[in-house]
Amino acid sequence: MVRKTTKKTAAAKPAKKAKPANQKVAAKTSTKVAAKTTEKPVAPYAMVAEKAGGPSVFKKVPLELPKPKKGEVLIRHTAIGINFLDVYQRTGLYPLEFPTTLGNEGAGVVEALGAGVKGLKVGDRVAYVVNGGAYASHRIIAADRLVKIPPKVSDAEAAAAMLKGLTVQYLVNDCYKPKKGETVLFQAAAGGVGLIAGQWLKAIGVNAIGTAGGAAKCKLAKASGYTQVIDYRAKDFVAEVKRLTKGKGVPAVYDSVGKDTFPGSLQVLRKFGIYVLFGQSSGVVTDFKLSDLAAGGSLFVTRPTLFHFIAERTDLERRARQLFSMMSSGKVKIKVNQTFALSDVAKAHKALEARQTTGQTVLIP
Ligand SMILES: NC(=O)c1ccc[n+]([C@@H]2O[C@H](COP(=O)([O-])OP(=O)(O)OC[C@H]3O[C@@H](n4cnc5c(N)ncnc54)[C@H](OP(=O)(O)O)[C@@H]3O)[C@@H](O)[C@H]2O)c1
Repeated sequence: MVRKTTKKTAAAKPAKKAKPANQKVAAKTSTKVAAKTTEKPVAPYAMVAEKAGGPSVFKKVPLELPKPKKGEVLIRHTAIGINFLDVYQRTGLYPLEFPTTLGNEGAGVVEALGAGVKGLKVGDRVAYVVNGGAYASHRIIAADRLVKIPPKVSDAEAAAAMLKGLTVQYLVNDCYKPKKGETVLFQAAAGGVGLIAGQWLKAIGVNAIGTAGGAAKCKLAKASGYTQVIDYRAKDFVAEVKRLTKGKGVPAVYDSVGKDTFPGSLQVLRKFGIYVLFGQSSGVVTDFKLSDLAAGGSLFVTRPTLFHFIAERTDLERRARQLFSMMSSGKVKIKVNQTFALSDVAKAHKALEARQTTGQTVLIP
């Protein structure tokens, strides 16, 4: 069941003395916030994960904002994207030091600039994807990780698209670049990455077969570019893909579900096909031998991660330009189907893990 939540952010009630991990707390050097907008000022805070565990680990903690140093920028978040990656980090599947501020993508307004920052000014709308630190009303961030948001893209869309949209950008350009008219399989088609991928693949003339859990999600994926969508909770997706491709199989499977879909994903690949495993929403793939690739038809496998594809500033700029161009042209629409107050981040995590979300989810400070 898809849930849509819109809630006003409660006024910050700072818990005394608690310090978030990766936001430096400066004693008497608070940066003055430029009053550029008419929005109510938010007392700076972060939703800190105190330890690895369930969604109850989040705690609201006040922030004192240090002045940005050389090459840094202070931003006030206007929207923060939620990702399954955040769940892996919260649970400890991807080990981190706790307490920490999670959250890997966001959008906001520049409020102060450190020395030497070029190409940005106070009041600019910017977005980013970086590892950690986004679940906060404000943050300090390296200027070279920011991109300006184009006029046709809203802050919520940018916040929801930096990680998920740039992932689609590299998946379809660098992991396997499908040719016009080819048919590929994309697992979890109604999810955050999945709904962007369906539209992107359609825009480049590719027949994308999607999978999703339940009729409502299948309908949504079908309306977002997939030519066929299989309800993989109700049907055997291997048999369905073989039927739809007249027994040929597909040259590529993009799979972020992992454990549950892994064996079937290899089975639907044609000879020399590539298995692009880019996540594990159902659990880690452990039962894999390189010899499976020979048995499946001299297959290829890759396990990519976005951060390698945007490590260089020039790559970040190039990929973000392509993503924003797809969004500005209307070829890729960002479906922010769930909005939560930042202070309700625990609810957002519960919904994502319970498979209750579709498309993109954002937090509003
Ligand atoms: N490697 C990278 O660079 C990279 C970058 C971004 C995202 N990712 C990965 O891409 C995936 C999608 O990310 P997202 O943020 O857009 O999430 P999402 O797709 O919106 O949510 C995950 C979806 O996975 C499906 N799923 C299947 N089995 C599940 C299970 N046991 N528990 C929970 N969900 C299950 C659910 O869809 P159904 O109900 O339709 O089955 C669920 O909605 C994640 O695995 C994420 O880690 C990887």
